[in-house]
Amino acid sequence: MKILRTVAEITEFAKAAQQAGKVIGLVPTMGALHEGHLTLMRTAREKCDVVIASVFVNPVQFGPNEDYDAYPRRFEEDCQKLESVGVDAVFHPEPKEMYPDGYGTYVNVESAFTGKLCGGQRPGHFRGVATVVTKLMNLSRAQEAFFGQKDAQQVLVIRRFVKDLNIQVNINMVPIVREESGLARSSRNAYLSPEEKTAALVLSRSLKKAEAAYEAGEKSVEALKKVVREEIATEPMAVIDYVELYSFDELKEIETVNGESLLAIAVKIGKTRLIDNIILG
Ligand code: PAF
Repeated sequence: MKILRTVAEITEFAKAAQQAGKVIGLVPTMGALHEGHLTLMRTAREKCDVVIASVFVNPVQFGPNEDYDAYPRRFEEDCQKLESVGVDAVFHPEPKEMYPDGYGTYVNVESAFTGKLCGGQRPGHFRGVATVVTKLMNLSRAQEAFFGQKDAQQVLVIRRFVKDLNIQVNINMVPIVREESGLARSSRNAYLSPEEKTAALVLSRSLKKAEAAYEAGEKSVEALKKVVREEIATEPMAVIDYVELYSFDELKEIETVNGESLLAIAVKIGKTRLIDNIILG
């Protein structure tokens, strides 16, 4: 597996793959890789001739009081994992390589849905995501890009700017990977103490309860959100940031679940903010 650290190196690698007529797949990550990321890599491996992963903790998507400095960085371990699933190259630039002095261009998705869910809680977050993902798409010359459903709103934001800016890349959303306990895999799970990890199971449990209620015939958005809230309230360590249920395509307000709808939650367990979701309908 090639390790590419500069814009010049990834450009040379991607150009050669493109000239050889290969289908290039991009899997952007911030590292601290877990089974969820590896599932993205394997999906890309099946679909593409050349797989480029990126490992870059993107400073511009973190707010001033967020966990940019504390975010886990384990590049050597990540490389071993990437090699084990057959990734061809990993792009691991320094922040200065991506945002050199004088850098001044940002991608801002102004659709109404950007400001909901995590966009409402983390101002500027999706501007940072859209900017770095645009740069990674340009650099990798990918025709296919892979993202996890856990960050479902991120997928919608990415689909929006890819369409609006006529970027020739197909966005693949890969289902959430969970631990056996039900906890959605996340790099931020590394922050949890053993007690907090047990408390964190309330996220998936609450979504499962709502899913069961939906399958038993409950279609009211308010009632389904109430099922989630009540379950989360049973866990004393859990503090709700949001529990929302919107139409999946544009995060529009709905009263009943008729088509694909996103039940999304953000919950703080101690100092760690975790997100999870399911798609109903
Ligand atoms: O989902 C993430 O890990 C990040 O938001 C991404 C897409 C790698 C951009 O930094």
